[in-house]
Amino acid sequence: MSDAPQTVLLTGSTGFLGSHIADALVAEGWTVRCTVRNTSNLRWIESLPVERVSADVRSADALAAALEGVDVVVHSAGLTRAKSDADYQRVNAEGTQTLAQGAVEAGVSRFVLVSSLAARGPDRRASDPGPPGDRPTSAYGESKLAGERRLFQVLSESGGAMQGVILRPGGIYGPRDEDSLNLFKVAKTGVMPVPTAKGRLQPVYVKDVAEAVIRAVVRPNLDLKPIPLVGPEIVSWADMGEALGNAVGKPLRLVKIPDPVWQVSGAVAEAAARLIRMPPQFDRRTADDLSRLDWTADPREAEASLGWRASTHLRAAMEETGRWYREHGWL
Ligand SMILES: NC(=O)c1ccc[n+]([C@@H]2O[C@H](COP(=O)([O-])OP(=O)(O)OC[C@H]3O[C@@H](n4cnc5c(N)ncnc54)[C@H](OP(=O)(O)O)[C@@H]3O)[C@@H](O)[C@H]2O)c1
Repeated sequence: MSDAPQTVLLTGSTGFLGSHIADALVAEGWTVRCTVRNTSNLRWIESLPVERVSADVRSADALAAALEGVDVVVHSAGLTRAKSDADYQRVNAEGTQTLAQGAVEAGVSRFVLVSSLAARGPDRRASDPGPPGDRPTSAYGESKLAGERRLFQVLSESGGAMQGVILRPGGIYGPRDEDSLNLFKVAKTGVMPVPTAKGRLQPVYVKDVAEAVIRAVVRPNLDLKPIPLVGPEIVSWADMGEALGNAVGKPLRLVKIPDPVWQVSGAVAEAAARLIRMPPQFDRRTADDLSRLDWTADPREAEASLGWRASTHLRAAMEETGRWYREHGWL
């Protein structure tokens, strides 16, 4: 990295993916500055040799101070669960714009945006009308697509002073992930409810995503076409059950839940969460994502642009994740 930029500003380092990106940047020898908030839990980064600066992505002033002397921004902060659709927009769309504008003003040379496959939407079906294109199916996906577009607009207005890279990971899992933990807990009971529909998924291991981010930081001449980041294999619920059972050390019986019941569960869980003013853990979006839709992408796109392909297969990654949960007393 001798001729590469030196200081990276990382947002979202206190979160699941961001903490692994922080590990990878430090391991590669970068000078890393992490934005944190008063309410952030610092557990994953407090032992890392990183500088911490206080900044919310909605505050242009705090970001201006955080961006001083920065060469590259890696923007992983985002809301994956929100109490309202407006909150998604405020953080994922407006926050990205505020940070990107600040980055241009600070003379940052590259801006790596961690977007999501949700910005593209699920796999296109033959019966879908209209030309191919991005079709997010949730307020979350719409806000991630809006974030990409706002970055694009800031870059256009900046006249090419800053380079942008947009990464679109599919579902991410691995150590420190509190969402996948629920799957492991259910797997330990020996029985797992799954949707009847044959969803095709391509989840990607968190350490592979962190490696892709490093490539996005250093690889010269990347264009702004969003790059999907997906796992090395397309899996079914049966494959997931097999890998989870192996990871928890007991065979898993999959119980198929009819689609209407699955959808109603999502709607009820969402309504209940709104009543108690909490972001829902399971909602209509998750119910839809997991049952009716396929979420896959061609790994050759990332290989061509980043020289990266996810290398960790589901079974090994699930084993490693389960081991981490046990070692940390989560399971
Ligand atoms: N997890 C997945 O499966 C997945 C898949 C595709 C894409 N992504 C994208 O990957 C990124 C990271 O997701 P994750 O799973 O790591 O989420 P996460 O664990 O919930 O972490 C979110 C991070 O964003 C920070 N953040 C949230 N709102 C902020 C604000 N207003 N200002 C500054 N920081 C803020 C949080 O800081 P605090 O600690 O202060 O709350 C935290 O560090 C997101 O952009 C997400 O859209 C995730």
